[in-house]
Order: sequence, then structure tokens, then C-alpha cells
Amino acid sequence: MAKISSKFVCQECGTVSPQWLGKCPGCGKFGTLVEETDAPEEVVGSIAVPTSKPTALKDIENVKYARISTGIKELDTVLGGGVVPYSIVLIGGDPGIGKSTILTQVSGEIAKTQRVLYVSAEESLSHVKLRCERLSITAENLMVLNECRLEHIEKVAEDYDFIVIDSIQAIYLSSLSGSAGSVGQVKECASRLMRLAKSKHKTVFVIGHVTKDGGLAGPKVLEHIVDTVLYFEGEPQDSLKLLRAVKNRFGSAQEVGVFEMTDVGIKEVSDFSGVFMSENRGAQAGSVVTQSVSGNRVVPVEVQSLISKTVFGMPRRMPIGVDYNRMVLILAVLERRAYLPFFNQDVYVNAMGGIKLTEPSSDLAVCLSLASAVKNTPIEKTTTAFGEVGLTGEVRAVSFAEKRVQNAIKLGFKKVIIPKRNYENVKKYADKITIVPVSFVSQAIKEGLPNATNE
Ligand SMILES: Nc1ncnc2c1ncn2[C@@H]1O[C@H](COP(=O)(O)OP(=O)(O)OP(=O)(O)O)[C@@H](O)[C@H]1O
Ligand SMILES: [Mg+2]
Repeated sequence: MAKISSKFVCQECGTVSPQWLGKCPGCGKFGTLVEETDAPEEVVGSIAVPTSKPTALKDIENVKYARISTGIKELDTVLGGGVVPYSIVLIGGDPGIGKSTILTQVSGEIAKTQRVLYVSAEESLSHVKLRCERLSITAENLMVLNECRLEHIEKVAEDYDFIVIDSIQAIYLSSLSGSAGSVGQVKECASRLMRLAKSKHKTVFVIGHVTKDGGLAGPKVLEHIVDTVLYFEGEPQDSLKLLRAVKNRFGSAQEVGVFEMTDVGIKEVSDFSGVFMSENRGAQAGSVVTQSVSGNRVVPVEVQSLISKTVFGMPRRMPIGVDYNRMVLILAVLERRAYLPFFNQDVYVNAMGGIKLTEPSSDLAVCLSLASAVKNTPIEKTTTAFGEVGLTGEVRAVSFAEKRVQNAIKLGFKKVIIPKRNYENVKKYADKITIVPVSFVSQAIKEGLPNATNE
């Protein structure tokens, strides 16, 4: 087979080189040259004779795609209600986190109704069989292929509707130089798979490995090519795993699914109210629960703070699950607007359960948790809070206030501290929960810690 001619292009300045070089001759940066193929012939042909023409919006047919259920409800939720047919979904995660396991389970479920091809480029057929037995997958229609060459995979895939590639770093195009997993190979393989999904009407799931820094291995363009990117996260020693959508063309990219790894496979955890909150909160100072919105759901998350006197010159600031800059900003606001001393204290803040609080609505809970820690006074177990905090110390309104209050009521909280500007929307719930509207952090601290002394 004739080799596709390729070139090496600098991702920074666009300099083209016929061979790979460590240092770009154009901009002088190191490691920026990436192999790219020259445009395939059919693309050149289609430019010469245009076949596509513009269509008026009103003339475009309204095709309703029935989403396919994966058989795992939490995964369906993260995908936005199931997989959209003919889309391409990328699942990334650390080694051994359970990527192959979850997709084997999904394949087993979908094979009940569709023709499924599981391409295992990393493991032998007997290994896949062993896993299927452990997961009690008996679907007869589930076909397994042990193959690394994409050209061959494409040919075989023609007879199937649903294809799983395990993994994108293990497959390669023999027409391209560069080993499997190299930037050029990953990028080209992903675009070929995308074309396969869209032009031949296949639904494709692709597994991707992550690098040491936690990003998906391979070029960033890999994430641009696919329709949906999901990350599987979790501590190796912890059986709880989080599946997070970071890009979704057909649903919310804020959704988080909670799973448990068991010996019979991945199990969904639908009632996760206890996952991000501890039972004995309220006994110690420094913990408070916020109502965080993730996608379409409200997740109750406990924020914990610990302070200890600085031994060395520079006080330490260590947030887990909360943005570092956001935490430093909140500390400054508390020092200046609520006169709480942190200048000689090491501060540790943790969002429980490994979740990341990216919404500004968690600011107020971080404030209260820090105030509780510095005053060494616990906050009532049945108190919850949400609201954005500004640099002037004001508590600003947040979106979905009603949803958050409803969730607090459902979980049995007795008191909710909210921004004053959100009060109008939620005052109808005042008979079910004590609603405390506040305008400033100092006021919120007084309400949250009514028994604290002003030391
Ligand atoms: N017999 C077993 N009992 C319980 N758990 C098991 C068993 N066998 C495997 N596991 C779990 O499954 C995990 C491996 O899952 P899987 O192979 O799906 O991960 P992966 O993300 O595909 O890994 P890789 O990146 O290496 O392909 C292990 O970390 C282990 O926790
Ligand atoms: Mg695997």
C-alpha cells in the first residue's frame, strides 16, 4: 500500500518540515513538531467539484434521534440521557480505573438489541472473555476483535452499529509513520473514526489514556474531534469513582455520575446524598454543606476547613476540590470584611468525596467553614448555605436558587443561608425550612455561628 505523504508541522508557528526535528527551525521551540498527513485525494476531488450546497434552515429535515440507553442510568445521565446515535464518545481515565470494565458492560447491554463490535487492541481475546465472565455478560451478539491496524478495523466495523475502541493509543494506521500512541497517529486515527461514525452511521466509544498531569494523552485536537469527552476519576484505593463530562455536544458538560467498583463490575450509586457528606459533621468546627448544581442535578457537598498555627514564616494555603485563587480571595475577604485573622494560620480546605467545586455559589460555604474553623465553633449539622461572595464582602445572587432550596428540604436540612437577592424566588418554602437571607458575609457568619464568641 502506498504511504500517505506526511509532513511535520509546528503547532506553535506553523513551520513545515519534511522530517521530525526536536527544535522548530521557525520559532525555536522544542517538541512542537507534529506529524500531519497531506489531504487525502477524495478531499481534493470534492473541492474541485463541490457536491454540497447550502440549505435554508426551514428546509432542513427534523430528524429525531432516539437516544440509546447504555443500561447504566448514571452513565446515561452524564451523556445527557443516553448515547446519541452516530456520535463518538471518548472516555479517559487513569490506568486500572475501570474504563474497559464500564464499556464491556455497556457493550453487553447494547448487544441485546444491536450489532456490537468490541475492538480490544490492548488485551487478548481470552482476557476479554475472562472479564465478560466476571461481569456475567452473556450477550451472544457481542463480537470481540483483537486488532491494532485501523484500516482493518474500519473494514470489519462496516457490519456493526456500535463500536468500542480499547484504546485509541493502541491502534495505528499502517500508512502513517510514527508508532501507535504518537501524536500524529492518535490525531489521524481519531479523525478517521469520526468520519466512520458520521458517514457510515456508527456509534463509537473510544477509550483514551491520561498523561501524568491528568490530561488525555495525545493532542488536544482529539477532544475537539469527538462529540463527547468523559473523564473517569477516583482514588485507586477508593471504590467510589466519578465520571465527569467535560465536553458534550448533546447535553450538559457539568454532569457528574457516581459509580462504585465491585468485583462484579461497575455499579451506579444513584442516591449519592451521603457520598459527599459525612454523618458526623456538626460535631467538629470547620464543616458546612453547600448545595452545588452539577448539570441538571443538585449535589450536596460538605466543605471542610482546618487551620493550624504557622510554624514557618510563610502560612500554607492548601485547597482540595476548591480553586486555589478563589480560596485565597475568600481568605482576604474574611480578613478585611469580617475581621477574622488568617495571616498567621496554615489553612486547609477540602470538598468531600473528591468532587471539584467549580461554581462560585460554593463561596459562602467556604467562608462559613473557614469562619467556623477559626472561631473553633461547629456549625449546626442541619444548616446549609450557598451564595457567591464578592470582594466587598457582599453575598451575591446565584442561579437555580429554587432547585437548591428544594434539595435542602428533601435532604432534611432545617436552615438554609442564601443571598438576599434570591429570597423572593424561594420564600414560598419558608414553612418547610428556615430561610435566612443575607447581604454580607459578616451577617452570614453571625447567622451560621450564632453561639461563636468574638475572639
Ligand atoms: N476479580 C476482581 N475483583 C474485583 N475487582 C477487580 C477484579 N478484577 C479487576 N478488578 C478491578 O478492575 C480494575 C481494572 O479495570 P479495567 O481493566 O476496566 O481498567 P482500565 O481503566 O481499562 O485499565 P487500563 O488502563 O489498564 O486498560 C482494577 O483496578 C480492579 O480494581
Ligand atoms: Mg483497559
